[in-house]
Amino acid sequence: MQLFLDTTDTAVLRDLVSTGLVDGVTTNPTLIAKSGRPMLEVIAEICALTEGPVSAEVAAVDAKTMVAEGTKLAAVAPNVVVKVPLTREGLVATGEFARQGIQTNVTLCFSAAQALMAAKAGATFVSPFIGRLDDHGADGMELIHEIRAIYDNYGFDTEILAASVRNPAHVTAAALAGADCATIPPSVFLDLFKHPLTDKGLEQFLSDWAKTGQSIL
Ligand code: G3P
Repeated sequence: MQLFLDTTDTAVLRDLVSTGLVDGVTTNPTLIAKSGRPMLEVIAEICALTEGPVSAEVAAVDAKTMVAEGTKLAAVAPNVVVKVPLTREGLVATGEFARQGIQTNVTLCFSAAQALMAAKAGATFVSPFIGRLDDHGADGMELIHEIRAIYDNYGFDTEILAASVRNPAHVTAAALAGADCATIPPSVFLDLFKHPLTDKGLEQFLSDWAKTGQSIL
C-alpha cells in the first residue's frame, strides 16, 4: 500500500520523507491556503522533495479552464498529478488529461457510482473521502470495499486512494479493504509507528541490556 502525505508543510514533509516510507503527496486548495504561499512555488518545492506523485488541484469548475489550469500545473514537474473534482465537468477534463498522458486524481468521491464514472473517464487515482463520509453518518470504509469490487469486476486500473483519513484504524481498514493508497495527515503518519507495548517492551530490553554492561560497537 502506498502512503501519501496530505500536507503543504514542506518542513514537515522534508522530515518525514527521510523515513523512506512516504510514497507521494496530496494537496488541496484548503492546504494551499493554509501554507500562505503561492501554489506553483509550493508544488515545485514538494515535487523536489519526493519522486512520487504530487497531487495539485485545479480551481476551475468548467472543463476547458480545468484543462488549462491542469496543463500549467503538470508543467511544474514530471511527478505532478492533476487533481480534479468529481463532477461532470471534472470527468470531461479527466478524459482530456488521459488522452494527453497527464495523470489525474479525481477527488471528492462519495459514492461507488461516482468512482465507476471516474474510472471510465480514465482517472489515474480516485479519492474516496472516508472521514467526511463517517462524519456524515455513512460508512466510509464500505465505500472502499464497493469501489474495490467494482474495479476488480471490470479490470479498471484506476488506483483507489483513500482520503480524508483521520486515524491509524482508517489506514489499516483501508488496507484490508484493498485500497491501493491512502493519503494521511502527518500526525496520523507518525501514529502509525506507535504501540504502547512496543514502548514498554523496548524499555525492558534496554534496561536488561544495560545490566549486561556490554556494547555492540
Ligand atoms: O485532501 C483530501 C482529503 O484528504 C481531505 O481530508 O480531513 O479535510 O476531510 P479532510
